[in-house]
Amino acid sequence: MKLYVWGAGCGAGDLIDRGLDPARITAFLDGEGRGGSFLGRPVLPPEALRGEDFDLILVASRQAEAIAERARELGFPAEKLLFCKNNWRLLDRNSAYDKAAGLLPEALLAELRRPQHPVREPLWLADSPLPRRDLENDYVRLRTLEALCRQLPGAPGAAAELGVYRGAFAACINALLPERRLYLFDSFEGFAEAEAADQAAGLVEAHRNTDEGRVLSLLPHPERAVIRRGFFPATARGLEEERFALVSLDADLEESTLQGLRWFWPRLHPGGFLLLHDWDNPRLPGVKRALERYEEELRRRLPAVPLCDVCGTLVLTRGDEPK
Ligand SMILES: C[S@@+](CC[C@H](N)C(=O)[O-])C[C@H]1O[C@@H](n2cnc3c(N)ncnc32)[C@H](O)[C@@H]1O
Repeated sequence: MKLYVWGAGCGAGDLIDRGLDPARITAFLDGEGRGGSFLGRPVLPPEALRGEDFDLILVASRQAEAIAERARELGFPAEKLLFCKNNWRLLDRNSAYDKAAGLLPEALLAELRRPQHPVREPLWLADSPLPRRDLENDYVRLRTLEALCRQLPGAPGAAAELGVYRGAFAACINALLPERRLYLFDSFEGFAEAEAADQAAGLVEAHRNTDEGRVLSLLPHPERAVIRRGFFPATARGLEEERFALVSLDADLEESTLQGLRWFWPRLHPGGFLLLHDWDNPRLPGVKRALERYEEELRRRLPAVPLCDVCGTLVLTRGDEPK
């Protein structure tokens, strides 16, 4: 069987970690010119399959709409693609209603033209400064970030992300808070070896594929960014007096998350927010454990609101309570 996996990142790693045997994969496809190999299989550009016969492409990227479009351009039969991520749509699937004009009462037609969406449609795409591909990836997370940033003017301080990876979320923070310094903490080579030792191979390998240059090139205001490369918390040395209005904590694993909470929470300004990504992600249970451990250390629960986004973010809000 000629089986391809479109995507050679976290989504693909996730499929492998959930039981897809890499030996069954003919090759991975990657539209960003990555090349090389992933988990021992070659990584090809999607164009390499043009005119070729194949049985199935498992689409393991969240960029479902963009990939569907590219696959159409390349002439891949739609039935040979199986979308494993974002296999639903937020937008209307009907492209035209004109043929029904005169057939259906105008009121009914108007209703059909505005089908129910899982999110408030007028907000969808209409006036967000964020890229559409990011919104399609994780609408609730991104629109919440936007709403939180609108609440921030009263809270002084910098923004920061621990766990930047390829910079997608950092770019959104930077776009929404163009005036604020943005500290970016990451090893830019994946998880610390000791912490990753008992983690699934796909998760670990996928996170090695990044670099600071790529991240900086994504930022709309790179002059605001301060890259802190290496393993946290050592990389926070010298910043002890800094205060933060917005922190994205997205380190995936327990010890690093705990270190992030210990370091950032006392430095979060009243009125500021800390977004704890993956808090309710059953595939990364260490994140929730880290918060439980930190709350035990503090001997109290932190004020927080859970989101119904893709990975179960928890938004921690800093009031005027004791640190
Ligand atoms: C899930 S990714 C971050 C994704 C990113 N926030 C986004 O939404 O696009 C997790 C990242 O955390 C980084 N990381 C985890 N523990 C770390 C530590 N102790 N020091 C530095 N980087 C760490 C890894 O290198 C990896 O790039």
